[in-house]
Amino acid sequence: TAPWRGLIDAYRAWLPVAETATPVTLHEGNTPLLPAPHLSELTGCDIWLKVEGANPTGSFKDRGMTVAVTNAAAAGAKTVVCASTGNTSASAAAYAARAGLGCAVLVPRGAVAAGKLAQTARYGATLVEVDGLFDDCLRVARELAAHHPVTLVNSVRNEDRLSGQRTAAFEVVDALGEAPDIHALPVGNAGNITAIWQGYERYAEAGLAARRPRMWGFQAAGAAPLVHGTVIAEPRTIASAIRVGDPATREGAVDARDRSGGLIDAVTDEQILAAWRLLGEREGVFVEPASASGVAGLLAAAADGRLDPGQRVVATVTGNGLKDPETAASAGLDPVPSEASTAQVARLLGV
Ligand code: F0G
Repeated sequence: TAPWRGLIDAYRAWLPVAETATPVTLHEGNTPLLPAPHLSELTGCDIWLKVEGANPTGSFKDRGMTVAVTNAAAAGAKTVVCASTGNTSASAAAYAARAGLGCAVLVPRGAVAAGKLAQTARYGATLVEVDGLFDDCLRVARELAAHHPVTLVNSVRNEDRLSGQRTAAFEVVDALGEAPDIHALPVGNAGNITAIWQGYERYAEAGLAARRPRMWGFQAAGAAPLVHGTVIAEPRTIASAIRVGDPATREGAVDARDRSGGLIDAVTDEQILAAWRLLGEREGVFVEPASASGVAGLLAAAADGRLDPGQRVVATVTGNGLKDPETAASAGLDPVPSEASTAQVARLLGV
């Protein structure tokens, strides 16, 4: 088979990319769809993880960014901008670097994980630390793009980003031969649940899947505007990637929930961290905390009887664990000091 050359190459007919446009790609997509035996045993369901941290910049954002930056470059843009809790910035910075475009990212000061800041800087983007929340960054980025010669690559009203993110659903159906019963995932600014639902719909409309899954989205309890049906002025959660008080794609997420017969619920930071640890220690999948909220939601639903056994479930784990080394370290590294002595190490290990 031909080597993988990224999402535009693989799914061009489904994407709003002109025939004449040259793809800006880092060969994103084609991420592992990994069986999760421990989670399956715990829940009695057949659970699969869509491991989006395997994308080139370590999150699902690369799926939309290849399309957004391809089209920005084709349209002659010089500079792209975005607001971000960190992953969109890393992705925008990388694709802009690849395309030879300028890139500026607006992030909430003190609220972005270290790995994401490191990536953004090393891809050569201008990092603007805004005195405010993600929601403030998004407002400023939108106004900036409306009045200045810069191109917004946030998913808000950006068909490019959403259409690129639909490819995760295409890959799931292509791999399993059918849509799952349930697709669970984290929800922050609400673009991804919108896009993945649309992806399943497109495939079903084209006759490539016989059914659509129920979409189960999970927000962090301290940042759950869609659960409470109101803007959260001071969103709080350890899961910094989804610390969003006023999701831009609110209607899309509500539509995905209602049309799929699904749900959007909240999980506590304790539940998120428990799922995050379990993913690493029992499944061998190290993700950033926000990424575990879908799995946390499945475990909570299994515990209170809302997840009927026997179903096939796909859970997106959205970003790589290396993105957030501080949270990983603060959960305890517990190194055991030793001299460079085989005998001492053997004694320490009790072997
Ligand atoms: N998981 C991770 C790791 C994320 O970075 C995000 C969003 C989400 C889940 C939620 O996806 O916003 O489409 O509902 N991160 C955005 C960013 C806000 O700026 O990187 P969503």
